[in-house]
Amino acid sequence: MQKNTTQINLIKPDDWHLHVRNGKALKSVISMTAKQMGRAIIMPNLNPPVTDANGANAYREEIISALPKDSVFKPLMVLYLTDKTTSEVITQAYNAGVVAVKLYPVGATTNSDGGVTNIKNIYRSLETMQKLGMLLLVHGEVTRSEVDIFDREAVFIDEVLAQVTSDFSELKIVFEHITTKNAVDFVRESSDNIAATITPQHLLNNRNDMLVGGIKPHTYCLPVLKRVEHQRGLIEAATSGNPKFFLGTDSAPHAKTDKESSCGCAGVFSAPHAIELYAQAFDQAGAIDKLEGFASKFGADFYGLAHNTSTITLKKQDWVVPASYPFISGDIVPFMAEKTLSWKVV
Ligand code: NCD
Ligand code: ZN
Repeated sequence: MQKNTTQINLIKPDDWHLHVRNGKALKSVISMTAKQMGRAIIMPNLNPPVTDANGANAYREEIISALPKDSVFKPLMVLYLTDKTTSEVITQAYNAGVVAVKLYPVGATTNSDGGVTNIKNIYRSLETMQKLGMLLLVHGEVTRSEVDIFDREAVFIDEVLAQVTSDFSELKIVFEHITTKNAVDFVRESSDNIAATITPQHLLNNRNDMLVGGIKPHTYCLPVLKRVEHQRGLIEAATSGNPKFFLGTDSAPHAKTDKESSCGCAGVFSAPHAIELYAQAFDQAGAIDKLEGFASKFGADFYGLAHNTSTITLKKQDWVVPASYPFISGDIVPFMAEKTLSWKVV
């Protein structure tokens, strides 16, 4: 592809890590993703979370009925692991078409109070998943209060993930929303059963963007933005063409008032312009030709699914991200609100 590319066609992308909530919030946001993405891995951290086949089936139905009539978007359902999840529950979910199981260490992030307290508590579940060929999706942060928030991912690799990958060498694992060079190196050096998703905010921002010149609550998510060296490592991984790294927005809607608060919620909202954000990051790195693999092929390949058959077109054209969108009965502020992006889906 030429350096002066002004238009590209991509196989329709998929989002391999997405929060759409339920009820009114779901209705506010789902069509945004359905417009850009063929499929999405739907995070199960509802309140209460999706912990069994019935819950996953009901949530899938709710999502499908919230979609625009003509939409062909497909939600891919995920189970939320707890200390009490049994092998039977995992098997039933698998038989109901649930594709993956999510590990939230207890207290790691939004709605993770029911998460896992000790990795050993889920070893039987992991064994069952390994046998069935069900993927494990990992929120990779330790939550012990004495561990600095900027170190929680790196410590998780050393204390938990290295052990799990060696104890379950056939288990497919997605290390979700990675934020550090440590995670990039770990994934690169692991077997082909280990992959990672990368968000647009971790490619486009580092912790200075969040903290210099005043706190920017709409860039606050978990795992938190890290130093620029880590951002550079993530950009390098995403644009390298290595199929272990693929798109997962972690778009996580929270009302403006819940973000702009004395105890602001964690989560960045990127659903309306997800692919444009990635295009911005890839183009800035001189690697727009690497976007299609990352956005539209590698994730599906890792999950053992076919690529989408339709395409989207992105045009090089400046446009300004809206200041907000309607959300439930108020507003939501998107990532990079009021900033100019240089690619647009046409
Ligand atoms: C997510 C959310 O709001 O559900 N928040 C976030 O900061 N990413 C949860 C998560 O994926 O950690
Ligand atoms: Zn998430």
